[in-house]
Amino acid sequence: MISPRIYITERALHIYEIFGKMGVDIGKFIVHDGVNLVLKLQWNDVMSFKISAQKFYNDFAPNYESKFCGSQGDAQHVNEAAAIFHKYHRNNHGHILDIGCGTGLLKDLLQGEFEYTGIDVFENMLHYASERGYKVIHQSVVDALPEIPDASYDFVFALSSLLFVEDIHPILTHISRIARQSILLSLDEVTQEYRNNFTVAVFDHSKVHISGAKEDYLIRGWTSCTTGITVNTRMIYVPKI
Ligand SMILES: C[S@@+](CC[C@H](N)C(=O)[O-])C[C@H]1O[C@@H](n2cnc3c(N)ncnc32)[C@H](O)[C@@H]1O
Repeated sequence: MISPRIYITERALHIYEIFGKMGVDIGKFIVHDGVNLVLKLQWNDVMSFKISAQKFYNDFAPNYESKFCGSQGDAQHVNEAAAIFHKYHRNNHGHILDIGCGTGLLKDLLQGEFEYTGIDVFENMLHYASERGYKVIHQSVVDALPEIPDASYDFVFALSSLLFVEDIHPILTHISRIARQSILLSLDEVTQEYRNNFTVAVFDHSKVHISGAKEDYLIRGWTSCTTGITVNTRMIYVPKI
């Protein structure tokens, strides 16, 4: 008896490799067409297996700083943000809102007597931020920002966190409304290759128009420790006064 052969196109092979990295069992995509086994995979199948940012960071939180900022991830955007901030702000006090604050690493990088409030969807990340002395808002940025009054924080930071939001425009409007003195953003240039390979759905906002920026340039941002892909980051500083 001749055993059936599995037919796999080059396109499906590529998707199969992505699924491999995501740990998805592809068994259910192999169908018997009466004669052969055929691997049927489409891009929509990949999208249906994307996981939420919460689930991803749930597993990642304890190792976040060593992996993302250590030699593996070599994250530069946070150091760059601190350098830009101190270039323009010498009186080192005020209230900072850190959007997608993660573990609250920013507090270790800025010199000064600031109060920190962090927004993040993931409570394990907030646990570390809270230990660092952050007040925390455990909500999605989309839900949290509309509830924050106008001009209620001196400085608003959003570092490598807006890639998880599909529509960035209302977020930018809120940030501008909330910040009293300045805004510091890092917008990641998430390429099609990165979007295909990363297990969480992410969006490229690196080309969005930002008015009034005093600093606006691209750096080599960080290397993803799950995909090995290096992502460039657009650093933006907007003074409000
Ligand atoms: C790449 S980390 C950046 C953390 C920190 N800002 C830094 O640069 O080290 C992205 C953070 O955004 C958070 N995040 C993802 N989606 C979010 C959302 N919709 N609202 C708020 N935070 C979110 C994640 O939990 C994670 O802590």
